[in-house]
Amino acid sequence: MLEIRDIHTSYGKIAALKGVSLDIADGGLTCLLGPNGAGKTTLIWTIAGILKARAGSMKLDGEEIAGLRAPQIVGKGIVTVPENRLVFPEMTVRDNLIAGSFSRRKDKGGVARDLEEVLERFPRLRERANQDAGTLSGGEQQMLAVGRALMARPKILLMDEPSTGLAPIIVEEIFQIIGQLRDEGKTIFLVEQNAHMALDYADHFYLLEQGHVTFGGVPGEVDHDELIQRAYLGARKAS
Ligand SMILES: Nc1ncnc2c1ncn2[C@@H]1O[C@H](COP(=O)(O)OP(=O)(O)O)[C@@H](O)[C@H]1O
Ligand SMILES: [Mg+2]
Repeated sequence: MLEIRDIHTSYGKIAALKGVSLDIADGGLTCLLGPNGAGKTTLIWTIAGILKARAGSMKLDGEEIAGLRAPQIVGKGIVTVPENRLVFPEMTVRDNLIAGSFSRRKDKGGVARDLEEVLERFPRLRERANQDAGTLSGGEQQMLAVGRALMARPKILLMDEPSTGLAPIIVEEIFQIIGQLRDEGKTIFLVEQNAHMALDYADHFYLLEQGHVTFGGVPGEVDHDELIQRAYLGARKAS
């Protein structure tokens, strides 16, 4: 369990997170909703150790991890699937995947086994293993981003808007993958614009607005349409 308490993160003088508290429960899918500019990506980067919180605490199974640097956070099993995928376009699919195991690069046998597992999970990546990642479709690049994260052997996956810009049928596929990972016992923290889909899959959700968590709960216990209306202030559904 990751317990986030009263986290403040700023860009210079601009406060982006103004005291964020939430729990990411073991083995569950926790979803973070909220309008553009709310601070969702900032929270992911703060958990990942890429941005440094000005104040607050983040405890992983009771151990303070606020202040650790990004590679140490990965070493604790917290791995990010970044917004806009950020695959290396001029590297092959295989090399992109291997890059995900950088923190364990000395464990050649383990890396080879994990690579085989990821290629087993994503047959389309196996077919394209020798292709440059830049030649993949958006959906395939998203699978690659997930596969690369899996190569780091995550306990907790932080996913920033994995469905953005993808066709509805591909979004379905991405959510099926997310649901499958959750069913396998991974802990997932998902930031999503596609709130309908997210609420269908989530065990727990939070709403972030202007750097504050303003609401949280269990999806089945709230009126989804009303919540989405509130979260996106009339923003159109993504699908
Ligand atoms: N590099 C940056 N420098 C200054 N302000 C930033 C930077 N990145 C994000 N912000 C600001 O921080 C706030 C939160 O942004 P972000 O975390 O990207 O929101 P979200 O992911 O919810 O759309 C916004 O007001 C945004 O303009
Ligand atoms: Mg964002």
